Amino acid sequence: MADTNKTAKLSFDGKELELPILSPSAGPDVLDIRKLYAQGDVFTYDPGFTSTAACDSTITFIDGDLGELLHRGYPIDQLAEKSHFLEVCYLLLYGELPSAVQLEDFESRVTNHTMLHEQMVYFYRGFRRDAHPMAIMTGVVGAMSAFYHDSTDITDPWQREVATIRLIAKMPTIAAWAYKFSIGQPFVYPRNDLDYASNFLRMCFSVPAEEYEVNPILSRAMDRIFTLHADHEQNASTSTVRLASSSGANPFACIAAGIACLWGPAHGGANQACLEMLREIGTVDRIPEYIARAKDKEDPFRLMGFGHRVYKNFDPRAKVMKQSADEVLDLLGIENNPTLQVAKELERIAIEDPYFKEKKLYPNVDFYSGIILDAMGFPTSMFTPIFALARTVGWISQWKEMIADPQMKIGRPRQLYVGPTARDYVDVENR
Ligand code: ACO
Repeated sequence: MADTNKTAKLSFDGKELELPILSPSAGPDVLDIRKLYAQGDVFTYDPGFTSTAACDSTITFIDGDLGELLHRGYPIDQLAEKSHFLEVCYLLLYGELPSAVQLEDFESRVTNHTMLHEQMVYFYRGFRRDAHPMAIMTGVVGAMSAFYHDSTDITDPWQREVATIRLIAKMPTIAAWAYKFSIGQPFVYPRNDLDYASNFLRMCFSVPAEEYEVNPILSRAMDRIFTLHADHEQNASTSTVRLASSSGANPFACIAAGIACLWGPAHGGANQACLEMLREIGTVDRIPEYIARAKDKEDPFRLMGFGHRVYKNFDPRAKVMKQSADEVLDLLGIENNPTLQVAKELERIAIEDPYFKEKKLYPNVDFYSGIILDAMGFPTSMFTPIFALARTVGWISQWKEMIADPQMKIGRPRQLYVGPTARDYVDVENR
């Protein structure tokens, strides 16, 4: 972040303040209001943080108008096409693409931490049989702080690194076991001879009674889904992780907080909600009815998988996801999939509709991901856990960046208080 030598003038109540303007390496300039309260005795008001940068960061950049997403400068479509998830993890965590030796070392460290502490099995068993896998994941990841005491001291860089590797390595096992528990099948242990995505697929879909061979095309599609969800700058769950960790909380507690936030239908839960919506629409002829409902201000219905706080253009991840959906359905011989047909036609109609055009509402990453996951055999309840698994690296990268920042302080937003002013307590018999 560089000082531009430019300032903005703010005058009110006879006061005149000069606010420095900071220049990012990309994106709009930023007004530095850090001294505003001290100098002007006023707060800023910005519910939903639509105009507020809460931190500086070198990890991910989004140009919402262009529909561009960069990780450490590299465009997401290049990473999705040419790279793979663990390499992208390395890039997000350490800032540069790894050399061949660095990559091998990183992959080996991740691969050798995939098992869960065996006593965590009892923790799983404590959940109700019909628990949602996201509820299980939130609990199990939070509980990691009770199992891995040697990586909870955030002031120790070595412990931070161990926690990082543990979280990335164990998340597929945690998510797969949450699924296995919910369907009453035995847990499948990780295998270190498989790559990250294949291992996850095997832990989800194999059973002890028979051999399971991972289809390399499905494994590639899975890996691509992980890559497309790896990070997305200061979204709600990432900001939750940052805020939680600003108090000095341990990494497992912070990532559990991120998972809990991601579960909401306006965020990571949208992929489940989107597939359910596409199925409810069912056939192409019913699309106009749903478009009309989405536009009706009296109806709370929204087109799931459409719209984004930052993208006012195509979400670049949605483009790659659409292509992957075609490939996976083709491979599985699922021709004329009615849900995919509804999705494509809905996209076509919505992006030409004046309401969606005017509000710049385009398909987001969740619009096609559910179709692919469904075709792979995942139930809708596993869509958000898969998102959480992939986003873990983004959360940890942002967490590491924040902890290493000497300017880090506890996050403590202010408020515009509109409640009653001071009044005297009245005894219950006099109320
Ligand atoms: N369908 C219909 N109308 C919509 C939609 C939608 N999907 N999204 C936004 N709008 C309309 C709103 O009604 C509002 O209209 P108004 O100005 O007339 O009141 C306008 O567009 C702006 O909407 P906001 O809610 O203010 O936009 P915001 O940036 O706060 O919301 C969000 C972004 C939450 C993603 C929203 O577009 C939405 O609810 N989309 C559906 C859920 C979804 O797909 N979420 C996934 C996001 S991506 C992710 O988390 C990975």
